[in-house]
Amino acid sequence: MNMLNDIERVLVTKEELEEKVQVIADKIAVDYEDKNPIFLGILKGSFVFMADLMRKINIYCDIDFMAVSSYGNRATTSGAVKINKDLSQDIEGRHVVIVEDILDSGVTLSYLKNYLMNRNPASIAICTLLDKPARRKADIKADYFGFDIPDEFVVGYGLDYAERYRNLPFIGVLKPEIYSE
Ligand code: IMP
Ligand code: MG
Repeated sequence: MNMLNDIERVLVTKEELEEKVQVIADKIAVDYEDKNPIFLGILKGSFVFMADLMRKINIYCDIDFMAVSSYGNRATTSGAVKINKDLSQDIEGRHVVIVEDILDSGVTLSYLKNYLMNRNPASIAICTLLDKPARRKADIKADYFGFDIPDEFVVGYGLDYAERYRNLPFIGVLKPEIYSE
């Protein structure tokens, strides 16, 4: 069974991803030069984006991860955010850049931002690869983003459906029959 057969169409190609990640990296490198930021990847979805982005930013920085879950193995949001793995370092007085795969309802990121604000960082910025503005519920905006995408469920480049497809090198839309299996 080849997982590529489950893809209806490619939304963002490997080449487009590579190019866009470079653009975001260049902006962040300029904005955070001499700020010694902490890049905070939100697991699991951001791991591919984070790895590519970090290797294109040539400034001193720390890297950390948090694991949160707002979705079960479903394609809709539950609204609840659970912290499965917290930061492993103090962020007081530090510049934090949250790195996310996708900003959808915004529930996850607005919860996280408030949660981190309570620890008195110098600043918090949000960097998301994908943005689905049509679905926004929480009042939150990305400081850096890659692509605005339509209101469709996407997979690949870190994003999953029921834990699958994270290893696809592009962003794609699944065939409808995959959800109804
Ligand atoms: P939000 O709280 O609704 O903004 O949801 C954010 C999280 O939901 C992301 O970090 C993803 O893990 C997941 N998510 C939202 N939309 C999609 C999608 O189209 N494909 C895969 N995961 C998604
Ligand atoms: Mg996810």
